[in-house]
Amino acid sequence: MAHDYVTTVSRPRDNRARTDPRRCKECAKSLGGKLGAVGDLATPVTYGNCVLESERRIKRDRPALAIVEGSGEAWGGRRAFPECCGGGGGVVRCVATTLTRRQEATRVMPGAGAGELSGCVNGVREVEVQWGDGGRSSYPHVWLRENCQCSQCFNPSAIARLFLMEDLSIDIQPKHVEVAGGDLVVVWDDGHTSRFSGPWLLQRSFTPEAREEQRSRYKLPMVPWGSDLDVPLVGYRAAMEEDAALLEWAVLMERYGVVQVHSAPPQVGVINRFIERVAFIKPTHYGRDYDLITHLSRSTINLAYTGSKLGLHTDLPYCQDAPGTTWLHCIRQHEGQGGDNDLSDGVAAAEELRQRYPHHFNALVTMPIYFQDKGYHLYQFDKIARRATIALASTGEVEQIYLSSQSRDSLMDLDSDQVYRFYAALKVFGDILRERSVRVKMKPGEILVIDNTRVLHGRQPFQTSMSSGTRHVHNSYVDMDEVRSKRRVLQDKLGVSFP
Ligand SMILES: [Fe+2]
Ligand SMILES: [Zn+2]
Repeated sequence: MAHDYVTTVSRPRDNRARTDPRRCKECAKSLGGKLGAVGDLATPVTYGNCVLESERRIKRDRPALAIVEGSGEAWGGRRAFPECCGGGGGVVRCVATTLTRRQEATRVMPGAGAGELSGCVNGVREVEVQWGDGGRSSYPHVWLRENCQCSQCFNPSAIARLFLMEDLSIDIQPKHVEVAGGDLVVVWDDGHTSRFSGPWLLQRSFTPEAREEQRSRYKLPMVPWGSDLDVPLVGYRAAMEEDAALLEWAVLMERYGVVQVHSAPPQVGVINRFIERVAFIKPTHYGRDYDLITHLSRSTINLAYTGSKLGLHTDLPYCQDAPGTTWLHCIRQHEGQGGDNDLSDGVAAAEELRQRYPHHFNALVTMPIYFQDKGYHLYQFDKIARRATIALASTGEVEQIYLSSQSRDSLMDLDSDQVYRFYAALKVFGDILRERSVRVKMKPGEILVIDNTRVLHGRQPFQTSMSSGTRHVHNSYVDMDEVRSKRRVLQDKLGVSFP
């Protein structure tokens, strides 16, 4: 059994720190720690020495975000608890990360000792530096020259390079290298001199470990999920008022691709205020935001305005730059059966497709199809995008999903003998998506925020009638860039890192 865990539970029910002197029945270790409130996020507190007890607390307090430091373990959704922690199955939301006060030695502010240069050696194509702690790093000559930080070569206020590729010689060589005044000083063969501070160099080290850390600042790793997911929750008021809670929301968005914001006022415009706290709305040809109010007539510009079943889909795949996140705010829910939302992790489903049916996966990666939307809303529009269902990153990982039965065009730019191949693959992918899906029925005031090119959403059908009232969902979009940007801004502001 693992011990020595530190847990931060960011939002206990009463939102106050408390102590609990009980002991874990299984490992008999003292549990003298306290729960951290939201304000303590940047200062994790010792919560207990038993991971089982930590899990029990997480289950009991149902925090939006719980971090088990040092575990390296990811879990989400329902989890069976051992007998010593109360037994049974519980709801755990745990983000697989360590969230600590940013050490002075981390990438932003290397501190005492970190990044201290003790010497350097010029090589054939690289300069090797030695660090005060005995470590070594190498920097290619061409990279050092291009990234000269002098005022001729770099504008620090714009954080922008002035030096142009046309002035760079790929084979440039240093005439002399030395460590002076704590900096690496390079005198080039053309007489130009560059100075680099140790912390600046350390932050840009080419070692695998440093590059992995840089990558996690770029994007937090996704946590793949399936039908056992309990959709992560964040409270509206906390996210609106506390930076730590908004950071939790952004972290959960990157990791899970869906967050349910609870206890928001069921009024049109509430998501706009939330979005303004993050960044700005992404307008579309439906406007900045719009109301999905059920129409009783069949004549409609969009199926979303009807009570028809909407299969799992991503929004606006007919836009070359489809919105990164879609926001569904329940103003009024259908009171009878139906109106639930289905959600499925499309990236995880695509990875499952790759493992189980590589030929189908290959078809959906390589066969572009058309998506279309045409009509009049604020103005006459005619949108078309041609793209594959599964988009890969340059690293080969599944990056984005574009799927919508509603707006996939009947016009197909494929040889006719390829059409069956496409349908067979899409059919199997659809089955996997449904098998892996979860269903939630939003209550008025609840908001689903969805990573639109990762997590597919659908809607169960419902009977529309005057007597049952109209279902009303308010919808907006924000680019995922803005979610990641806000996460980085807040993690720097609050001094937390996600190694
Ligand atoms: Fe949709
Ligand atoms: Zn320079």
